[in-house]
Amino acid sequence: MTTHSDRFLRACRREPVDVTPVWFMRQAGRYMAEYRAIRQRYSLLDICRTPDLATEVTLQPVHRIEVDAAILFSDLLLPLEPMGIPFDFVKGEGPAIEHPLRSEADLARVRTFEPREALAHVLQTIRQVRQALDGRVPLIGFAGAPFTLASYAIEGGHSNTFAHTKALMYGEPAAWHRFAGQLAAIVADYLVAQIEAGVQAVQIFDSWVGALNAADYREFVLPHIRRIFEAVAGRGVPTIHFGTGTGAILPELREAGGDVIGADWRIPLDEAWQRIGFDRAIQGNLDPTLLLGPLDRLLAGAGEVLDRAGGRAGHIFNLGHGILPMTPLEHVQALARYVHQYVPA
Ligand code: CP3
Repeated sequence: MTTHSDRFLRACRREPVDVTPVWFMRQAGRYMAEYRAIRQRYSLLDICRTPDLATEVTLQPVHRIEVDAAILFSDLLLPLEPMGIPFDFVKGEGPAIEHPLRSEADLARVRTFEPREALAHVLQTIRQVRQALDGRVPLIGFAGAPFTLASYAIEGGHSNTFAHTKALMYGEPAAWHRFAGQLAAIVADYLVAQIEAGVQAVQIFDSWVGALNAADYREFVLPHIRRIFEAVAGRGVPTIHFGTGTGAILPELREAGGDVIGADWRIPLDEAWQRIGFDRAIQGNLDPTLLLGPLDRLLAGAGEVLDRAGGRAGHIFNLGHGILPMTPLEHVQALARYVHQYVPA
């Protein structure tokens, strides 16, 4: 069985599909030899900033795996630089922000920018990918959500506790809301620019928002996310709202917006869907580390996710988070094939 050009978009709209669509977060990346070959010659940021390279990398998984969507190869942090927050990727450590924002004065210096100028290369990549895909599968664009973007800008890199971010949120709520509002306006404009350039769906990554409880989410995050979804609504492309560790706040994520809500593996898919509401589509939710283990256990896990979806329209199969670098490509290929060949009990 092969991919089908509108299966993914139909599922986003909760329309019936021939088989469950599948794509993977981080489907382009270090687990693929083709990607590593390019990375030997170019840095991650070089690839992101060079449309020919970003196009090639975006297409790598489409050529090797039965995925029903391509995702733009870029990075969540690209908007930080034109905001006046320079950063780099440090080998083995992930992103490092040169001067983390720690005070109200730091936040006040952050600039807004025109994505059609400062991130023109991303928009050019989108046009080139659409042309190269020639309708084979749809292209997903994306951006980071205010909390997740702010957490990198404030912590300076990855964090387990989000201590600086939350301290600022609780201690300087007015400054937080100004900054989160500014991020929301930038992200909304950037997503609209991506849609104008040709992306056929957009995913908002609020990867780390599961660090908040429902009351804090409601107070500090929800109004800003809602603004982003409102700005994108009515432009004819489905929206996906993704986070991890969000089992306790799925109803709030749903309320904030998104035609499709992402769920991670910590909550069974049927329970997550119940909490989100069956009038929304759901994306998820296999544990990405299952791809590292034996194939029979991987496929049994995938079967369980599909059983829990119960053949209801509006399920997009994905992992609960991105593919890990040590993942065998053959397991990813076998998983996509399994999803397409699955027959409901
Ligand atoms: O999913 C895809 O195939 C599209 C590409 C994509 C990348 N980053 C490329 C990348 C996407 C959608 C992202 C989003 C992103 N970037 C997120 C949100 C998604 C998530 O994982 O929750 C976040 C938090 C970032 C920030 C970021 N970029 C981190 C924390 C890291 C380092 C972690 C690591 O795996 O080393 C990156 C680097 C990065 N972005 C890589 C890739 C393929 C690994 C890069 C490399 O060195 O080649």
